[in-house]
Amino acid sequence: MRRARIDPAFTTPYIAKTMAIREIIKIPDKRLRLKSEPVQKIDAGIKKLVDDMFETMYAAPGIGLAAIQLGVAKRVVTMDLSKKEEDHKPQVFINPEIIWASEERAKYEEGCLSIPEYYEEVERPAEVKVKYLDLDGKSHEIKAKGLLATCLQHEIDHTNGVLFIDYLSKLKRDRVVKKFTKAAKESAMKKEEA
Ligand code: NI
Repeated sequence: MRRARIDPAFTTPYIAKTMAIREIIKIPDKRLRLKSEPVQKIDAGIKKLVDDMFETMYAAPGIGLAAIQLGVAKRVVTMDLSKKEEDHKPQVFINPEIIWASEERAKYEEGCLSIPEYYEEVERPAEVKVKYLDLDGKSHEIKAKGLLATCLQHEIDHTNGVLFIDYLSKLKRDRVVKKFTKAAKESAMKKEEA
């Protein structure tokens, strides 16, 4: 997920040598519609994926990322909702699952790194309970509200092939998909010409 208003504090990524910025796939890439597979074993490959997800997310800049946005269909989510770079608070959610959602709903203006520069208000449950594993394979349950609740729902949707534009009217959704489809075709043509 992306913050609606870009905070300059997010624009400087923090970098470790082993990390790599990977390409974030954009709509209409069909992979974004895949249902991701649960992680069976948290091995070196998963840890490397998480490192790369953080690096890519901070560089974007974004506040949340799902592995499928890097083309990896695994149920892994990274997030950092901290406001300032000095108090970065990276959070990892392996196999996250919503186990409860409030009746009360809240609206938040959402954006997505796979749908750049597009923001719309989305209404979702105001509070959720999420079960997940940490990088050590330990199981946790958290109750979230506010931005954390919204971001968790947005990212867990990604692991199920759902995008925030799915909650908009058909008219709005068709318009944005059409725009990105056209842009993808144009960039493919440019690549061919080069
Ligand atoms: Ni997103």
